[in-house]
Amino acid sequence: MSVTPSLLDRSLRPLHRWVWAERGRRARKLLRFAETERSGGREIARAAECTSDPILRRLLLRHAQDEERHAELFGARGRALRKGAPSSQLEANWLAPGERGLDELRADRLSERALLAFLHLSEKAAARRFALYRQVLGADPETSAVFAEVLADEEFHMTYTRTQLERVATGRRGRALWRARGARIWKAYLRLAAALAGLLGHLVLTIQYFVLVPPFALLARRAARRERAGWHSAEARPAADLEGQY
Ligand SMILES: [Fe+2]
Ligand SMILES: [Fe+2]
Repeated sequence: MSVTPSLLDRSLRPLHRWVWAERGRRARKLLRFAETERSGGREIARAAECTSDPILRRLLLRHAQDEERHAELFGARGRALRKGAPSSQLEANWLAPGERGLDELRADRLSERALLAFLHLSEKAAARRFALYRQVLGADPETSAVFAEVLADEEFHMTYTRTQLERVATGRRGRALWRARGARIWKAYLRLAAALAGLLGHLVLTIQYFVLVPPFALLARRAARRERAGWHSAEARPAADLEGQY
């Protein structure tokens, strides 16, 4: 099966090309992806420990090993790119987030059906993104090859989670997938709301800085003008002052 990038990502291809063009940013993003893959792999290993289904346990264990291998591949390439590259602050994770979903996985809180539906959608989204990243990285064949290697595993993850969901859900696969879709939409909304709140907070603080601080600065300058320059003797204090500490 060959996965193609989503229509939205394809229409934003020039933007994705720009995100991946800078070597320092490429390094940072790959190192971030490595963290996501590693933590996702840990959660999937935990899901393998929790399940009593032997087929599922075997597949989840292989899945966890794959995610660990992806973490190593991304990490190694990210470290190689980082050497001698100018550091970049902007990662543009909102646009190119990698295998998002795995970083939000809480395996012990989900039923097997919900877990498989969640994994299927996350793996499908990741496979489509990685297919695009592989395409836009034509100028860096080594990184593109890393994505090609990872993509083959993601396609397998996407397929096995779907077939296992069909087996486990016994006719309720559609409902499980819609619920998982709803949860993903809700999390996307929360991410957007948090980003918007951060942006608004930044905006309000900036406005406050330029509106409230200048009058105090003017008052301080006027007060400074009234001060006599240089050293001058202190006025004699009343005798009562000597009774206090200061
Ligand atoms: Fe992965
Ligand atoms: Fe995966």
